[in-house]
Amino acid sequence: MMMMMRMLQMILLLTESVLISSYQLNSTVECERPDKKKTVRVLAGESLYLPCPNDDCHIETENTSYEWFKYIQRTEQVEQIGTEESERIHYHLSELYILWLTLNDTGRYITRWWYEEDKCDEYETDVVVYEEFNTDLLDYTPEEEKPSKIYCPVCEYQQATFIWYKNFSLIPNQESAGYLLLRNSSKESAGIYTCVCTWEHNGIKHNRSGFRELIIRDMSSSTPTFQLPINNSIVITDVGTELILQCSVFFGRTVCDECSVQWERNKTRIDAVNGYKQETRKQGGIMESFLTITKVSELDLGSEYRCRAEDSYEYFYVSIILKRKESMIPVILACVCTFLLVLVLSGIVKWFSLDLVLFLREIIAKLNRTEDGKLYDAYVIYQRNLEEKTDKTVSDFVNGSLLTVLESYCGFKLFIHGRDDLPGEDCMDLTESKIQLSRRLIIILTPETSTTSSAAYDLELGLHQALVQGETGVILIQLGKMQDYTHLPLGLQHLLCKNSPLLWRDGETSPNSRFWKRVRYRMPVASSHWRSSLRNISLECQPLTV
Ligand SMILES: *[C@@H]1O[C@H](CO)[C@@H](O)[C@H](O)[C@H]1NC(C)=O
Ligand SMILES: *[C@@H]1O[C@H](CO)[C@@H](O)[C@H](O)[C@H]1NC(C)=O
Ligand SMILES: *[C@@H]1O[C@H](CO)[C@@H](O)[C@H](O)[C@H]1NC(C)=O
Ligand SMILES: *[C@@H]1O[C@H](CO)[C@@H](O)[C@H](O)[C@H]1NC(C)=O
Ligand SMILES: *[C@@H]1O[C@H](CO)[C@@H](O)[C@H](O)[C@H]1NC(C)=O
Ligand SMILES: *[C@@H]1O[C@H](CO)[C@@H](O)[C@H](O)[C@H]1NC(C)=O
Ligand SMILES: *[C@@H]1O[C@H](CO)[C@@H](O)[C@H](O)[C@H]1NC(C)=O
Ligand SMILES: *[C@@H]1O[C@H](CO)[C@@H](O)[C@H](O)[C@H]1NC(C)=O
Repeated sequence: MMMMMRMLQMILLLTESVLISSYQLNSTVECERPDKKKTVRVLAGESLYLPCPNDDCHIETENTSYEWFKYIQRTEQVEQIGTEESERIHYHLSELYILWLTLNDTGRYITRWWYEEDKCDEYETDVVVYEEFNTDLLDYTPEEEKPSKIYCPVCEYQQATFIWYKNFSLIPNQESAGYLLLRNSSKESAGIYTCVCTWEHNGIKHNRSGFRELIIRDMSSSTPTFQLPINNSIVITDVGTELILQCSVFFGRTVCDECSVQWERNKTRIDAVNGYKQETRKQGGIMESFLTITKVSELDLGSEYRCRAEDSYEYFYVSIILKRKESMIPVILACVCTFLLVLVLSGIVKWFSLDLVLFLREIIAKLNRTEDGKLYDAYVIYQRNLEEKTDKTVSDFVNGSLLTVLESYCGFKLFIHGRDDLPGEDCMDLTESKIQLSRRLIIILTPETSTTSSAAYDLELGLHQALVQGETGVILIQLGKMQDYTHLPLGLQHLLCKNSPLLWRDGETSPNSRFWKRVRYRMPVASSHWRSSLRNISLECQPLTV
């Protein structure tokens, strides 16, 4: 059983080591690899001094031992490097020397550092040899507005002398130092700077060149400007639909390598989330990011979306707000309902307006009643001595409905000729004074007129009162249908032009019928009601209690 476990462990260890590296230095030993591999770029013909890429490994040489190897990827072979000083490639403890570099020296160099008897670390360095200058040889230099120094990127740990070039031509009168002072840097300072360091090894001088490109930052055009989206703008969308958000940023001149544009939801990047895809595009000085939301969810609508633009110095944000598309149906429904309500209300108001006016008028009359010195509410003028049939209709109406409704129910005080005149009174005087004592004239229109009528006199007087003096209101009631009004006196015809008559049909005997409400509307407030209290106000006419 133990044996089995041991073997399993061994197999696991082996597979692990295979996964870690593609080469095998010593099958019986396994070293740790604490650092990432580094890359060194050099020019052919020059010489490379390569210290162990880890500081501890480089410095702590006492009681430790070193081994150097070269791994050639092409042949997948590992060569051990020797320590013989006469060799072109050799090492001295933690330092490797590759003199007079050739293109064939390109490869991976491995440092094995035994810091204890049975413990070791391994460090890898890729060396790339170039035949001549290549932009890959340029070391990274941050953009600055006014740089004052450029440091040589090579020969940091060496005793060496330095010569500086700008755009590959010698800079005159410079000190030999690992850095170049820029006394008055300006836009003209931009360019490629080369430092050649010369160092000695075993009495022989060797060169190594380092390259930097200096870019002078132009402050005026360097702030990224958002073209899209508009800051704090609203994007209308709907749950379940696809949405593409575009962010376009102008970075000026050219887009820098460190520049980026990306979308964030609630301040976190979302391109790795399922259902969200972000694509970035560079074109001229503009960088764009397209965020595709496959299906907009409720969560998206409640989240903050913003586009972040970053250059090598700072970053900027613009935010957008996702809003749900408003449905038109509730708005339309509300409109229709309001319209119907208004229609119904106006119908109700129209239907009950007459009752309302009658009711209000009665209240107002009670609140500020004034004595006008009149005795009667209305003087009833009607034709007498007509044809037998018509005469009966008229007297039935006057003595029937008119009296019952207006006097008994509604409490009006009427003057009716033949009923209210006292015997022996002078007929003409009586008529004139009674008309003057009445607030309204009720004129009953009939299809025919009696030529010899004694009622013609009170009609004439009444018309005079109404038309000439304009004091008394006139209510015209028409009994039965009429072709025209040509048979009526001219004064009456004139009145008919201004007031349409109320048409009475047989059977409208109820005091609350439309006809009688209209009559009441044209009548003044019944004088009997003046004397009754406010409590008795009623929309309807009721039989009077004596
Ligand atoms: C492998 O490592 C062991 C232990 O350090 C050493 O004795 C042996 O010589 C090495 N073999 C090779 C091929 O380097
Ligand atoms: C190196 O080893 C020697 C002898 O074993 C010891 O005296 C010395 O202190 C060690 N040096 C260091 C730095 O550990
Ligand atoms: C580089 O290696 C190739 C093949 O191994 C050989 O033919 C060539 O001569 C070598 N070049 C130099 C400069 O050593
Ligand atoms: C630095 O440059 C500015 C203009 O670019 C110039 O006016 C000034 O004299 C220069 N100073 C020196 C010390 O060269
Ligand atoms: C150096 O070269 C860069 C382009 O690489 C150019 O923009 C600059 O003007 C050159 N400077 C000089 C002084 O020639
Ligand atoms: C080293 O560089 C200097 C100056 O660039 C040059 O004069 C010298 O010949 C070079 N030496 C070698 C060994 O290439
Ligand atoms: C984003 O934050 C809001 C509140 O600030 C929250 O309602 C919403 O659920 C958050 N969205 C996500 C995806 O967590
Ligand atoms: C966008 O508006 C916010 C405030 O709502 C502000 O903090 C931010 O700086 C604005 N972004 C830009 C690029 O102007």
